[in-house]
Amino acid sequence: MRQETPYPHPQSETLLNSAFKGNRLERDVYLLRHCPPEYRLCWVIENNQEIIAMIRYWEVKIDTPLCAGQNYRWLLLGPLAVAPQHTHQGYGKQLIQHTLTLAKTLPKTLPKTLLGETAFDAVFVSGELSYYKKLGFTPVSIKSPRNSASNHWQIYPLKDNLPAMPESFSLVATD
Ligand SMILES: CC(C)(COP(=O)(O)OP(=O)(O)OC[C@H]1O[C@@H](n2cnc3c(N)ncnc32)[C@H](O)[C@@H]1OP(=O)(O)O)[C@@H](O)C(=O)NCCC(=O)NCCS
Repeated sequence: MRQETPYPHPQSETLLNSAFKGNRLERDVYLLRHCPPEYRLCWVIENNQEIIAMIRYWEVKIDTPLCAGQNYRWLLLGPLAVAPQHTHQGYGKQLIQHTLTLAKTLPKTLPKTLLGETAFDAVFVSGELSYYKKLGFTPVSIKSPRNSASNHWQIYPLKDNLPAMPESFSLVATD
C-alpha cells in the first residue's frame, strides 16, 4: 500500500473506469470535488506493479454552521475502487481502515495545531449502507448536490466530542 503519486495516477483512472458502471463523472459527488484532493489520504494498493485498489478524499464544507465560533473541517470519502477481479479480498476495507486511522492523526494547519486537535472532524460518504456500516459509519441526512433525496449518506466521526449534526443539510465543494 502506498500514497497515490503522481496524482492522478493514470492506472487509478483506468481502475475507476472499470470499477464504476456508466459515466462516473456524472455522479452527484463529483460536484463536490472541485478542489485538489487531500493528497495525504489518497492511497493505492499495488499487485505486480499494477494498481488494483484506490481511495481518495476531498475536503468539503457544510452549509450550516454547527456551533458559533467553531471551525469544523470535513472530508468526503471517495472514490473508492477495487479492480473487479480483486473484490471481496479485503482491499477496500484495508484502504478505508488505513486512511481513517491516518485522518485522525494528520498534522493540522494553523490554528488548531496549537491546540493539539486532529486535522479533520469527520468523514462523509455516499455509498452502500451495509458496506460502510461494518467500518463504523452511521447514516446521516444530507441533501445531495442536485437536491435529490438520498439515503446513502453516512458519517464517520474522527473525534469524540462532535456536536449533533443538523436534521438535514447540504455539502458544499471547497474551492
Ligand atoms: C465496493 C468495493 C469498494 C468493495 O471493495 P472490496 O475490496 O471488494 O471490499 P472488501 O473485500 O474490503 O469487503 C469488506 C466487507 O464488505 C463486504 N462487501 C464487499 N462488497 C460489498 C458491497 N458491494 N455491499 C455490501 N458489502 C460488501 C465484504 O463481504 C466484507 O465483509 P466482511 O468484512 O464481513 O467479510 C468494490 O466492490 C468496488 O470497487 N465496487 C465498485 C465501485 C464502488 O461501488 N465503490 C464504492 C463507492 S462508495
